[in-house]
Amino acid sequence: MLPAVDPCTALKRFSGVCPFLRSTSATSLRSFSTQPALASTSVRPGNRLAELAGTQCPLMSAALARRALAAPAIAAPAPNHSRPKSTLAARKSDAAVARGYASIAEVHQDALRKATAAASPKPAPAFVNPASLSSDKSGALAADEAHAPNEVHSEGRPTCALGFAKHRITSFRPGFDYEAFYGSELDKKHQDKSYRYFNNVNRLAAKYPVAHTANKADEVTVHCSNDYLGMGRHPVTLQAIHETLDTYGAGAGGTRNIAGNGAMHLALEAELASLHYKPAALVFSSCYVANVETLSTLGSKLPGCVILSDEMNHASMIQGIRHSRAQKMIFKHNDVADLERKLASLPLETPKIIAFESVYSMSGTVGPIKEICDLAEKYGAITFLDEVHAVGMYGPTGAGVAEHLDFDLNARGGAAGSVADRVDIITGTLGKAYGVVGGYIAGSERFVDMVRSYAPGFIFTTSIPPSTAAGARAAIAYQKEHLGDRQMQQRNVARVKRDLEAIGIPVIPNPSHIVPLLVGNAELAKQASDLLLTKHKLYIQSINFPTVSRGDERLRITPSPLHSDAQLATLVAALDSVWDELGLKRTAAWAAEGGRCGVGMPEGERKDVVNLWTDEQLALRDLEHARDVAAGKAAPDQAGWVASPVVEAATAAVAA
Ligand SMILES: Cc1ncc(COP(=O)(O)O)c(C=O)c1O
Repeated sequence: MLPAVDPCTALKRFSGVCPFLRSTSATSLRSFSTQPALASTSVRPGNRLAELAGTQCPLMSAALARRALAAPAIAAPAPNHSRPKSTLAARKSDAAVARGYASIAEVHQDALRKATAAASPKPAPAFVNPASLSSDKSGALAADEAHAPNEVHSEGRPTCALGFAKHRITSFRPGFDYEAFYGSELDKKHQDKSYRYFNNVNRLAAKYPVAHTANKADEVTVHCSNDYLGMGRHPVTLQAIHETLDTYGAGAGGTRNIAGNGAMHLALEAELASLHYKPAALVFSSCYVANVETLSTLGSKLPGCVILSDEMNHASMIQGIRHSRAQKMIFKHNDVADLERKLASLPLETPKIIAFESVYSMSGTVGPIKEICDLAEKYGAITFLDEVHAVGMYGPTGAGVAEHLDFDLNARGGAAGSVADRVDIITGTLGKAYGVVGGYIAGSERFVDMVRSYAPGFIFTTSIPPSTAAGARAAIAYQKEHLGDRQMQQRNVARVKRDLEAIGIPVIPNPSHIVPLLVGNAELAKQASDLLLTKHKLYIQSINFPTVSRGDERLRITPSPLHSDAQLATLVAALDSVWDELGLKRTAAWAAEGGRCGVGMPEGERKDVVNLWTDEQLALRDLEHARDVAAGKAAPDQAGWVASPVVEAATAAVAA
């Protein structure tokens, strides 16, 4: 219960922070404070003061909402269909929090927090990992304990017909018990340890890769972000976003068909088409949507289409193939021989799509793009290549692995017959190395126009905000011209892999920028992640089933160009300590068991890993130098890797 506060004190307290009260006459204030509802419960939604404040003063309404949410009747989750009136009031007030001062000066927020926080902390949702809510180490252990299945029993209610929820009835509505159903589905997730907890981690633009948890004073270093190059906080991206936001406002205003198509969207698509050496590109709200929509549209439209899909493909591709209802053939991961067997079993005239990725994000393996293009040409298929985890980071202009494979040729502007040119469809994201949000496809004019014309997930949804489009375009254009960030990222990746391998931490070998560490157990992987967060102040998300197979659970590290040497050294030491503290298997232990996921494999089963970026490419001073070397006008540097001055300066600033 809230402590009783007399109305005049309450008004005085809030008038310091409430612009509405401050400008209200003394007579009105007196009259508000003597109203019966106010007198009985200090401030409560429903009285005259709350009503006025709620409609006229966003700050006051936020304060009232926080108080309302702290009331016990509201804080406890209510059974379905029997929501008390107070919950509805809280929802109304909650909306006031959302539309209130989230975007107004920090000083006002702090004033509000001071006025209300002590009395009414709002509990975090159950899916938020307690390890990220408190700087207290014990938070790490609380996540599973916090799970209490919904056990609200109703009396005299008929038993659910399906029987699964007999012991856990939550609804008075006759017939199917929806809430019990949700509860039992969630229980399955808790039982098999695949329930997803989210950490409350807030990456700080001015301190990247440093973030704070739920507590602003609790800073952690992020080692698992997919903002791979830090473009999400890069001045170039931010400036484009700020300027466009001020010019064109927040939202796009509609679908591309209705007021949501402007110069920023068109310019972004032109930039993307040129990045990928294709005639056209099309932007979606995410690459998840781009993949689902493109594969489902093509698979359902192409007559008798068969889609050949790598077994490790991302959920978005799997979903797109499912939606298309086309015949699906799954080939073994990166296994060109298996793919060829499957292609050869199909008639030449049958339309076929080979769907695969360049960098597989959980293992860091890289698709055999050139070989798959060869097969596609031989067997009359088209290629669909997801470059989500490669754009921005590979190739002389950041177009991805397909571009990287002809590095010199593409440094000079590309040419027909290159791998990038031979891939039919490229999909990518704006939300990872480009630091913003959105996804896209690039390909022939007719292909893009067909998807634009038929894909419901493109047509019937609001387009991305103009400012997002402008930010993405600025990030792409910047990375097109600068090699330094991707070289520095590679240098940091190589350093982390080398240092971890030296102390026997099981790095899953791969030729890309992903550093996966094999743990092999879901609970241990989560415990390791929580321990890193709470004890070592490092954020590394654990990756569990269904994202990876059971037994392949891991930690996934993604060093960025902005991680300093000191931050990387701290990371290695912390992992060493966590491996000891939890008794996790090191490489030798995996080897003793015959190896797993490429770790500790016996001699004959070891695969050579050749880095995508060669030492010579890493030694290029900049794009100009790359062009000159490619044209034979300059010699490659012999002195090993040289950081660009921009990256050196940024790294020094972070270290300081
Ligand atoms: C391989 C792959 N494709 C597509 C996506 C979806 O991209 P987006 O985050 O833009 O929806 C992801 C997301 O992580 C991914 O890993």
